[in-house]
Amino acid sequence: MSTSPDSIIGRATPRIDGPLKTTGAAEYAADFHFEGMAHAVTVGATIASGRITKLDTATAESMPGVLLVLHHGNIGPLYRTVPGDDSATNSEVRSPFEDEVVRHWGQHVAVVVAETLEQATAAAAAVKVEYALEAANVRLKLDDFKGERKTISDRGDVDQAFDDAPVKVDQTYVTPVETHNPIEMHASVVRWDGDRVTLYETSQGVMNHRAVMAQVLGLPLENVRVVTRFLGSGFGGKLFPWPHAAMAAVAARKLNRPVKLSMTRRMMFSNVGYRPRTEQHIQLGATKEGKLLALRHEYLNNTSMLDDFDEGCGEATPYLYSVANLEVTGAQPRRNMGAPMWMRGPGAVPGLYALESGMNELADALDMDPLQLRLKNDAEKDESHDNIPFSSRHLRECLETGAKKFGWERRNAAIGSMRKDGKILGWGMAAASWVAVRLPCTATVEFCANGRLCVRCGTQDIGTGTYTIFAQVLHEKTGVPLDRIDVILGDSSLPSGPMSGGSMVTGSVLNAIADGANNAIKRLQQLAAATEGTPLHGAKLETVAFTEGRLHLKDQEASSGAHFADILGAAKLSRISAEGKTVPTWEDPKSKGFSLHSYGAQFVEVEWEPEIAKLRVSRVVTVIDAGKIINPAAAANQVAGAVVMGVGMGMLEETRYEQRTGQPINGNLADYLVATCADTPDIDVTFLDYPDPIMGEYGARGVGEIGLAGVAAAITAAVHHATGVRVRELPVRIEHLLESKIVSV
Ligand code: MOS
Repeated sequence: MSTSPDSIIGRATPRIDGPLKTTGAAEYAADFHFEGMAHAVTVGATIASGRITKLDTATAESMPGVLLVLHHGNIGPLYRTVPGDDSATNSEVRSPFEDEVVRHWGQHVAVVVAETLEQATAAAAAVKVEYALEAANVRLKLDDFKGERKTISDRGDVDQAFDDAPVKVDQTYVTPVETHNPIEMHASVVRWDGDRVTLYETSQGVMNHRAVMAQVLGLPLENVRVVTRFLGSGFGGKLFPWPHAAMAAVAARKLNRPVKLSMTRRMMFSNVGYRPRTEQHIQLGATKEGKLLALRHEYLNNTSMLDDFDEGCGEATPYLYSVANLEVTGAQPRRNMGAPMWMRGPGAVPGLYALESGMNELADALDMDPLQLRLKNDAEKDESHDNIPFSSRHLRECLETGAKKFGWERRNAAIGSMRKDGKILGWGMAAASWVAVRLPCTATVEFCANGRLCVRCGTQDIGTGTYTIFAQVLHEKTGVPLDRIDVILGDSSLPSGPMSGGSMVTGSVLNAIADGANNAIKRLQQLAAATEGTPLHGAKLETVAFTEGRLHLKDQEASSGAHFADILGAAKLSRISAEGKTVPTWEDPKSKGFSLHSYGAQFVEVEWEPEIAKLRVSRVVTVIDAGKIINPAAAANQVAGAVVMGVGMGMLEETRYEQRTGQPINGNLADYLVATCADTPDIDVTFLDYPDPIMGEYGARGVGEIGLAGVAAAITAAVHHATGVRVRELPVRIEHLLESKIVSV
């Protein structure tokens, strides 16, 4: 597991797929184009709830170039996926056009296919739909919820401990609906060959996508292939298939032509998921010295009419701090809105916004430094799981390192007291955490007679650097130069690999690649010893070494042996390959019984100019404990990107809906504000880089999501420090700050 200082593991390594991207050669789903391809455009419902009474497609069908209009009446059989089948997770329970009921604005009610995109777009606008309206519930606020709440975690007696606590915080924190806005729109390009189908997809999980499409289309698994070579990011929105993929597949089958269906940015606000609204009640009780006595976290998130989507806001709450009395509960009120979907750091990110905001308010109530409050309540064991040990936890060092880098000791806690360059400074901080799991993975490693080395795995690179870390591991294991290593991902016909979700790919694939490389090297050694005309012929296996791509006798120089390409040549073989596997954490006796998480600390500075009502996040220091960092360049890029997303969450992002129809009214990138380069603060990313001994080969846990956790809570704390205003409903708006007593610098 240990790596030498000159190892490529842990070295900033430029992306091996970089040139493909910068030259435009990387093919994303919508880039695939086939002879005779037709174009599909969907028609969305204009009501939130009701029934389709009439669907008039005559005009659309008579328009130039129109080939087909599909809807409930003619889609033919489509199926739901088997409930509880984890290998085939779908985004929505209902299959497309399954009934004539409309449950949310924008729900697909028809799809028009034509020779050109323009013809399909024009004809889609000519489809006439009549509805019988029914009462819709598109109320965003969830505070009227009266139903059952599910207990997520509990210990001790929270009621009693909270009642008795001398110092308390009792507040509700709200996060709005946020919409995933990857630059690449969702798209499906579908091509049939007899009863076999290939889907070129925007998928964060080609294996799962294949399993879902096989079930939905009623095909044997082996007849379906899903390809996602490159993804223009996903943020969780592309984890599981959405209905448009099946619609495109049916259209292509009926027409016996390839079909492309691409979402528009506007449709992406209503048809492919979003982070639901959360309302989170936090109760914290502590001694006068700041020792936590009670912690209650009750959350609500909206879900759709048919899907049970649990945002899981209590994800990090049960283990982050030491507290004897704790209760986390959750519930999901239904609304006439589309299905929500996991969005970067689901559960923990909105959950930690609430918990860490509560901790910051508790620190103020105690007149205690918020950093000291965290240090004082750091957990030694996972108190939510029978006090099992943490595999590797360095939260304390994250907090202390971050404080030092940020200059936290210079903080004057008085509101509005800190100034710089004619601006008021606000400083805030928060802790972060994210779960780690090793998912099952298979990879094959192949030495080729042309001197190249190849690895294949049915996972995908969603823009995070997965291609590159595969190559790094192979280079580490074999010494073959990076430019002679081929990494083949993003195809469901490859050996089964994990979803690109939950920051779990890095921790999941490294064991399989390393194991595959070791096994392939062993086979090469056997081959060398068994092949006439090689310097190793006849050697005992245990005397054959493998160094920098060459096989040689252990007690001799590498130059005395032969390159693997020459061994393969002598044996008249084009290649030799072997498989490697990752055992998932839940099946491995070595990892069972450990609590696996990553940790982090966020320190934020805001600048407030009250005279012109200008608030800006100016500086962020983030320290991350995510195990061994395989590629610090790609990892820092992930964390910095997540911090920028945190600025969006804290200051800008909110999907707004028209009150009667539930139509997103800011469903475009002009009105839905995401943080841009101009909003990006000075960001300092530090990794602690402690290998996690329980994660296996190299000890990496993954970094895609944790950088977002805690940022929003640190921002609102900094805003309070600068302005005296507590914002408990994101995003922070200038309107919130009108009540600030700090009116001039
Ligand atoms: Mo992430 S929300 O699991 O893509």
